[in-house]
Amino acid sequence: QKTEENAEDKNIVWHEGDITYEDRCKNLDQQGKVVWLTGLSGSGKSTIAVEVEKELLKRGKAVYRLDGDNIRHGLNSDLGFSAEDRDENIRRIAEVAALFREAGMIVLASFISPYQEMRDFARERAEGDFIEIHVKADVETCASRDPKGLYEKAKKGEIKNFTGVSAPYEEPEDPELVIDTAELSVEESVEKVLNYILEN
Ligand code: PPS
Repeated sequence: QKTEENAEDKNIVWHEGDITYEDRCKNLDQQGKVVWLTGLSGSGKSTIAVEVEKELLKRGKAVYRLDGDNIRHGLNSDLGFSAEDRDENIRRIAEVAALFREAGMIVLASFISPYQEMRDFARERAEGDFIEIHVKADVETCASRDPKGLYEKAKKGEIKNFTGVSAPYEEPEDPELVIDTAELSVEESVEKVLNYILEN
């Protein structure tokens, strides 16, 4: 609704092509899908996504990974970590992921994405072809891993608005899958995610 009003204001009109989503899927012999991994920094989102991408590729799937740190190097390099900037970060990613899905691809999106509202927006944009995965590890576990030394900096006050320390994380309300990385090994986590994607 909001988008349509916006389009009217700007005198822009949607231009339909002749190739449908179904045509693209048929060509690739798969369904488009947005697999959204959400969780604290250090919970294991990127590690799992990297491995799942390799496994899907081995099985001949067209797959592409979108990752928080990487996207913030380019497309979203103008954004920081205020609540507003995080919303804009996820809004843009949700749109990019929706385009990949429409192209028939499987998208592995790993972003902290701390707000339920924006994860719901990403789901809506993917027209339901969406798997929300909570990569779950408590903040103490993530802080003890601290692969980039960010928790230490955050605790010293050297990083402001750090998720789980000085900024909120809203746990997913109704995710398709919860991966408890405090309990599961990387291999077990990857297997669970992979099986869920292949079965759905
Ligand atoms: S968000 O919340 O979805 O917009 O964040 P995202 O785009 O996934 O980026 C998270 C990565 O940015 C680094 N980083 C921070 N994370 C959280 N809070 C603060 N303040 C912050 N500053 C920098 C950090 O490396 C995150 O990467 P991951 O892979 O999650 O550890």
